[in-house]
Amino acid sequence: MLPRHVAIIMDGNGRWAQQHGLARTLGHAQGAESVRTVVRQARRRGLGWLTLFAFSSQNWGRPSDEVHDLMDLLVDFLRQEREELIGNGIRLTAIGEREFLPARVREALTETEAATAHCVDMRLVLALSYDGRRDMVRAVQRLTDLASKGQLLPADVSEHQVMRALSTGEMPDVDLLVRTSGELRLSGFLPLEACYAELHFADKSWPEFCAEDLDEALSVYTARRRRFGLTDAQVTAASA
Ligand code: FPP
Repeated sequence: MLPRHVAIIMDGNGRWAQQHGLARTLGHAQGAESVRTVVRQARRRGLGWLTLFAFSSQNWGRPSDEVHDLMDLLVDFLRQEREELIGNGIRLTAIGEREFLPARVREALTETEAATAHCVDMRLVLALSYDGRRDMVRAVQRLTDLASKGQLLPADVSEHQVMRALSTGEMPDVDLLVRTSGELRLSGFLPLEACYAELHFADKSWPEFCAEDLDEALSVYTARRRRFGLTDAQVTAASA
């Protein structure tokens, strides 16, 4: 079965650029092309949700030129892809601390979110200024705020409510988490949402990642047996 929700850590833009004697920014620009390719392929394959780690909270610490160029690439993507997203029925939204993003990115994001709000065939989520722990802290603040107003009793705090309080509250759990460029880390990406996800680490860097590589990740996932803590026999009986 296809995963309902695929999340990707798009790593290796800088190293790819270095290997080709190019500036890091050109690695990110090539990475943006991979985003276009992979979104198209995800739609073609019928995925329901695709979440891309486009900018982490920690990425603000990069040289300001690089951050500036990444923000420009985001604006370009959000403006240039709008019509194609609409044409393909893809609704775009974002998670993360958007208030930290420059005004030009926030505006382009709001416009693309509004323009694609009616699309129902696939969801594309950009994680921008995102960090899983920070998102958890915000969720705790939301819940304690409700408790302080007497609208939530500690005994009533459930797994469901905690997950709903995250910025990913309306999203399904991640089924397949992919990271490119051979690094074996999760880097604070969707820690609770992906806690039962299948992991796939691809050796290729993100600028080289193509439609066939997404297909490969999907077929690796399809061949896995997800047991969710049960025995093989129980899973077989349940699927019979
Ligand atoms: C990691 O590579 C990648 C990023 C920090 C940014 C990801 C951004 C894009 C793919 C382009 C813009 C996004 C969209 C949605 C259009 P790295 O720079 O950490 O690579 P390195 O580990 O080789 O240095």
